[in-house]
Amino acid sequence: MDAKSKQKTGIFLVGFMGSGKSTVGQLLAERLGWEFVDLDDEIARRQGVTISEIFEQSGEPFFRDLEHRALVEQAELVAAGRPRVVALGGGTFAVARNREQVESAGVSVWLDCPVTELWARVSGHDHRPLAQDRARFEALYEERRPAYGRADFRMDGTRSAQQIVDTILSLEEKGSSLAP
Ligand code: S3P
Repeated sequence: MDAKSKQKTGIFLVGFMGSGKSTVGQLLAERLGWEFVDLDDEIARRQGVTISEIFEQSGEPFFRDLEHRALVEQAELVAAGRPRVVALGGGTFAVARNREQVESAGVSVWLDCPVTELWARVSGHDHRPLAQDRARFEALYEERRPAYGRADFRMDGTRSAQQIVDTILSLEEKGSSLAP
């Protein structure tokens, strides 16, 4: 579907770990007066454990299943008339069935950043199970770029959150209304 003719009450932020999805998402939701949801926080809150603990105790496939279910719920809330900005996890949009959910629920925006910048932002933090080894991190980044490229819009993720939000909001002026 053409991004311009889509329902615009759901904005889904897409991108690799460290690309700023949560920071940008919070700011964007504030500016729109919409709800903000961080998908990872939602999953962790529901399970009562951290994302790392889910990976350690139950494995990545189990996490991916929780992630898909959490996304379906958010898509349903958008469809039920509850506008929201959703920050996806770094792997969410790499999965075809998740992209389908996002595609039918709203607009996707990719925060694109060079991998060296992303690694500098996330290395040294131990709460991301897939960001512990640089070579693995870079390989995953390359593997996922084509999937991120399917988002409706691409933003330069090296700019400030404020600038990115202004650009997203300016899409409205280009005939792509984000208002409910
Ligand atoms: C993941 C990214 C993380 C989190 C989990 C897996 C990934 O989210 O969902 O650790 O597969 O890239 P962030 O992108 O918010 O760090």
